[in-house]
Amino acid sequence: MSGKTMDISINLNGKRVAASVSPDLSLLAFVRAQGCKSVKCACETTNCGLCTVWLDGQAVLSCAVPMARANGHAVMTLEGLQAESADFARCMAEEGAEQCGFCSPGLIMNVLSMEREIRERAAAAGEEPQMPSDEEMDSYLAGNLCRCTGYTSQRRAIRRYMASRFAACAQAVVAGQEE
Ligand code: FES
Ligand code: FES
Repeated sequence: MSGKTMDISINLNGKRVAASVSPDLSLLAFVRAQGCKSVKCACETTNCGLCTVWLDGQAVLSCAVPMARANGHAVMTLEGLQAESADFARCMAEEGAEQCGFCSPGLIMNVLSMEREIRERAAAAGEEPQMPSDEEMDSYLAGNLCRCTGYTSQRRAIRRYMASRFAACAQAVVAGQEE
């Protein structure tokens, strides 16, 4: 790390945070220093997904984002998504989708990102949000390493969560149970 610093300012969970930091300080280290301890550090090589945050609404791996790139942008962590996070955590508990819990912070950030993107895409098209396919779920969870579940129970938790939020998704669950 060089000795140079730069003044940065980001919107973190709805609040402006300014600091003088090394430009190559990772966003992961920065948000943890700001008290966002939901963002976990494991591999630091973009292989586990535990450090997932939203940067301008997109899920990113914060271990791979230097503060020079985050400067001026909006960052969201689980601390800023507590109501949605609690709802999905309940769905995980009801589907037995949390075992050791190691992967949960990154998983939840990715699932909430998926829900938001499906909702916004449907709104732009003037349609009802539809239940994602298994393949679509897997594409959102691809960067989130889970050593315990095999993702089957996590997919069930996602379906339960989507059904709790959107009528068309609830109907899809009912139709699936009747097949
Ligand atoms: S700590 Fe960032 S992907 Fe593992
Ligand atoms: S529940 Fe243990 S790693 Fe995912």
